[in-house]
Amino acid sequence: MRLAECTLCILLATQVSVTAGLDPRVLDVDKEKSRAKPGSRMTSRDRDTIHNWVSWYASEGPGASGKSKLGLRQPINREPKYFHEPSGPGGGHYDKRYFRRFIEEKQRNQHLKYLIRAWLEWTQKQNIETWLAHGTLLGWWWSSEILPWDSDLDVQVSEATLKNLAETYNMTTWSWAFEDGNVKKDYLLDINPYWTDRQRSSTSNLIDGRWVDKSSGLFIDITGLSETHPDSRPGIVTCKNMHRYHVNEIYPLRPAQFEDYQAYVPYAFDKVLIQEYRSKAFTLTEYDKYQWQPALNTWVKKENLQPRKLVTLRNGKKMKIKEDEPRGLEAVPKPTLMQNLQRLVRYWQ
Ligand SMILES: *[C@@H]1O[C@H](CO)[C@@H](O)[C@H](O)[C@H]1NC(C)=O
Repeated sequence: MRLAECTLCILLATQVSVTAGLDPRVLDVDKEKSRAKPGSRMTSRDRDTIHNWVSWYASEGPGASGKSKLGLRQPINREPKYFHEPSGPGGGHYDKRYFRRFIEEKQRNQHLKYLIRAWLEWTQKQNIETWLAHGTLLGWWWSSEILPWDSDLDVQVSEATLKNLAETYNMTTWSWAFEDGNVKKDYLLDINPYWTDRQRSSTSNLIDGRWVDKSSGLFIDITGLSETHPDSRPGIVTCKNMHRYHVNEIYPLRPAQFEDYQAYVPYAFDKVLIQEYRSKAFTLTEYDKYQWQPALNTWVKKENLQPRKLVTLRNGKKMKIKEDEPRGLEAVPKPTLMQNLQRLVRYWQ
């Protein structure tokens, strides 16, 4: 059943133009339409296939170094790697120069909030175009916030913007003062000199730039999109990590709120997210230690949730609900396959 459900969703996703009927001038995006009801559980297999997709893709995906499953030779890492991270599990999320210690999840989330705030404010002040990407975009879709389990952030820029960043702002440090918490931070903008090579020639330099928090080593990855084959594939833009988009999926950018600040997202954000994470990224309401709470419109750590108790509903059915939670929300049964399909069809009409 699960497989059938999934296959149908993908079928729908590929057959139906997801952005049909959307007006580029509509600034308020109704994300509620496709939001899942509580109850869909994520298996460990789902977890691997969806949320870890990006890191899996980089390390073992078809373009990673070594031989692919088909035995084709992949690009050899001839270029020296520009950005360095401390070794060990979790090290990949810190810049080696500024790494001091591993930061626990909640604190890390706060550092990331400051990071993105500063980036969004800085780019707007300098009139630099940028938009949310990958897991950061998915976080926006769910709750306009960084996903609590995320350990780094992703933004994209156009090739022209990347050039401007490299030529005008490389290795510049920007000081930021945040009123909440009376926090002062320095951020370094560092552009990879291999940015000029717009095709993937090595896996060492997939990331074009970083906005680094000098106090913690945490960072935002900046990747540029380029039209690498204007003659044979006009309008197709890619980053060096092989993510491909049609320019019309990116532009015109949609203004959006993220972490209480003005941000931008790709025009066809839904299509972009489905391509990267599949449609399950929109419907699974449990991930890792977290559960989506519709009443609060945010992800909540399961250990902070109240224990559930068994109650008998008016219609005679028994159901486990939480004491303080409005019953309406908690008593929604798991949607059936037909309901899921109807919901998707309605969303894509
Ligand atoms: C940015 O500056 C660093 C340090 O000087 C340098 O190593 C790097 O090549 C520069 N990047 C670009 C794009 O010029």
